[in-house]
Amino acid sequence: MFRRVRVIFGIRSNSIFVLLYLFGVALIFYIGLYSASTVVVENSSCGCTCVNTTSTSEDNKNCLQSKINSKVRRTETFLLIIVLTGPRNIERRNAMRLTWLNVTKFPSVSRRFVIGTSELDSNTKESLEQEQKLHGDMLFLPEFKDAYNQLTKKLLSALLWINEHIDCSFVMKVDDDTFARLDIIEQELKIKYHLIDNLYWGFHRGSSRVKYSGPWAEPKWILCDRYLPYALGGGYIVSRKLVEYISNISSLLVLYNSEDVSLGTWLSPIQLTRIHDPRFDTEWRSRGCRNAHIVSHKQSIEDMYNKFRMLQNHGKLCMKEEFLAQSFIYSWNVPPSQCCERKYGIP
Ligand SMILES: *[C@@H]1O[C@H](CO)[C@@H](O)[C@H](O)[C@H]1NC(C)=O
Ligand SMILES: *[C@@H]1O[C@H](CO)[C@@H](O)[C@H](O)[C@H]1NC(C)=O
Ligand SMILES: *[C@@H]1O[C@H](CO)[C@@H](O)[C@H](O)[C@H]1NC(C)=O
Repeated sequence: MFRRVRVIFGIRSNSIFVLLYLFGVALIFYIGLYSASTVVVENSSCGCTCVNTTSTSEDNKNCLQSKINSKVRRTETFLLIIVLTGPRNIERRNAMRLTWLNVTKFPSVSRRFVIGTSELDSNTKESLEQEQKLHGDMLFLPEFKDAYNQLTKKLLSALLWINEHIDCSFVMKVDDDTFARLDIIEQELKIKYHLIDNLYWGFHRGSSRVKYSGPWAEPKWILCDRYLPYALGGGYIVSRKLVEYISNISSLLVLYNSEDVSLGTWLSPIQLTRIHDPRFDTEWRSRGCRNAHIVSHKQSIEDMYNKFRMLQNHGKLCMKEEFLAQSFIYSWNVPPSQCCERKYGIP
């Protein structure tokens, strides 16, 4: 072998270049193959991950998978929709998957159903794992129990996860009783808002009085006698950069009970492009079915199927429009207590 090599060198001096060239090609090929083999293609059973890295064995596989994913590549999407949902609300999730959140027609949109999985009974756990196998669209957060008083922590954990794992331009947060017009939202994000990296788009309020009792009480609130302006939680959209900002300062944040009040407060000192949009029907009760709405909160499962069918068959949301409450255009140039006067004629 060596003699042959020597002979080759001896016979023609430029053979060494051929040899080096071949060696180089082989090396590049090897490196290429090696890195290709370490890229983990995200399959349907590991669309989720866990934020807790000291996990139990059953979470281990997913954790490992997500660690590899985060090192090698992040999932790319234009708009990520996160749905804060309860462990047992599978019917709601399926209604969303079968109606407006079927993203087949929207290749630049992805969805994740976010669930806290600590302290779940084994039946629910198993059912969730089945659901994940089937759809691959869940984000399990094993470090906390799914409960109302954990919603803000849930939102924050989801945002931290997104910041680590997803390359997206915008994040939309909805509840599992929200119906949205993805066609319009995607279009407007792409045409009107794509260059805005500090977008905070939703139905804003600045005049909400602080609650001191009941399930919405905010005992930690000391900043003012109203909440700082915030987009109501039934659905809002933020730019990726804001997610990154929140992730960066997450350890210093005060977590209030309401996730939407919290987000508004966390973002309050930042230069924002606040878009108040009355087409977001995202208050604690619906203002009624209006064809102009692009986000509708407080929808039953039946409402979702009905709205979807109406859209498919008639191109509009409502069989008959209803007016249950007046709406408002936010006045940003008056004190927040006067921001939000309700009037007729606004959806
Ligand atoms: C989603 O929509 C596509 C067509 O746009 C349809 O073929 C598919 O069956 C739908 N998926 C679900 C789960 O409804
Ligand atoms: C992570 O999960 C383990 C077991 O499920 C738990 O004991 C631990 O407290 C969790 N750690 C964090 C930081 O949540
Ligand atoms: C977040 O922190 C990273 C790392 O320090 C920094 O590069 C990035 O600019 C920060 N982003 C924002 C929006 O604060």
